[in-house]
Amino acid sequence: MLTNTSFTELVGIQWPIVQAPMVGGYSSPEMVAIVSNLGGLGTLALGNLTPEQIKQQCNQTLSLTDKPFAINLFARQKQTIPSLNKNSEEIKALIPYYQQLEIDESVLFNQKIANLPDLNLQIDAILNTEVPIVTFTFDIPSPDIVEKLKQSGKIVIATATSTDEAKLVQNEGFDAVILQGSNAGGHRASFLTDGNGGPETQLLLKQTKQAVSIPIISSGGIMNGQQIVQHISNGADACQLGTAYLFTDEAKVESYYLEALLQHQVETCLSDSFTGKYARVLNNRFAKEMKPYRAASFPYQGQLTSSIRSKAADIGRYEYLPFWAGASYSLGRRQTAASLTKTLIDELKFSMSY
Ligand SMILES: Cc1cc2nc3c(=O)[nH]c(=O)nc-3n(C[C@H](O)[C@H](O)[C@H](O)COP(=O)(O)O)c2cc1C
Repeated sequence: MLTNTSFTELVGIQWPIVQAPMVGGYSSPEMVAIVSNLGGLGTLALGNLTPEQIKQQCNQTLSLTDKPFAINLFARQKQTIPSLNKNSEEIKALIPYYQQLEIDESVLFNQKIANLPDLNLQIDAILNTEVPIVTFTFDIPSPDIVEKLKQSGKIVIATATSTDEAKLVQNEGFDAVILQGSNAGGHRASFLTDGNGGPETQLLLKQTKQAVSIPIISSGGIMNGQQIVQHISNGADACQLGTAYLFTDEAKVESYYLEALLQHQVETCLSDSFTGKYARVLNNRFAKEMKPYRAASFPYQGQLTSSIRSKAADIGRYEYLPFWAGASYSLGRRQTAASLTKTLIDELKFSMSY
């Protein structure tokens, strides 16, 4: 049966529908529980949270559902501060924004390394919870982390943006792979390349299906049940949707972000100008103007631009903010997470009746 796949069996869910993790508080415990309670798989985005915050989010979700759900973490390498000065292209490109927004430029030269939560401490926090499934983006975590999670009975999944990355995910012993096409909203998971381009999800699925035997979750540009059916017919075992859930009430997206999404006025593009890592965003003024310039590495570029974002948000200069969105965002509709999930399920049931 179409909806009974190796992935639904692996994680014990009814429908091959995964709600994507969306850092920034968008994939809330409420949203995750709604999707899981309806027989899909919700995912909490915990990549930027401290162990204490992780425990809180997991416990809150566990109190709202007794069905399986996943959590997502960033498996990233150690970062160093790049040696930049006022003559570096990366800095010179940002100075006009500091000037226009009247931000003290000395902030640009007094950066410390990002105090990102330690992955090992995040993992320890997860090991102390009943969360059954852990997914990763941005890289593959070290073998001892994979081993620890598996030994404690957790299902481990990593994200790939190319067939080569998917093969590595399989070889490192992961239980399943999320294939993220270049049309996906938000940051690219890429770790073998910089993620500037690459195949869209359908093509990536076709290229990769023959190369790996673990369950595949397609992700990127999927907004409705018909598309899920197409992906499953082409060999996917589930589909992970982000942008479609971004439009739901439970995402509580900032009003100016939601307005930009609902206006459907601009195309999306891949940009590394906001954080130093390529991400699919609305092609707004900042993305366009910064495109010719080299960005500092991730997450350092994110620190250099953070004063621009906070001042721009404060004074309503929204054209300088990153509006993460998948290439199919114009198909998004305002509704509740329950209504979206039920519609996806109905569309799957409808396709099965033929
Ligand atoms: C606002 C936003 C935040 C995201 N945050 C994460 C994240 O924390 N971890 C992750 O693995 N993927 C993240 N993603 C990517 C999604 O997992 C998924 O690949 C993408 O949303 C799929 O494409 P779609 O948006 O076209 O459905 C994010 C996507 C968006 C739109």
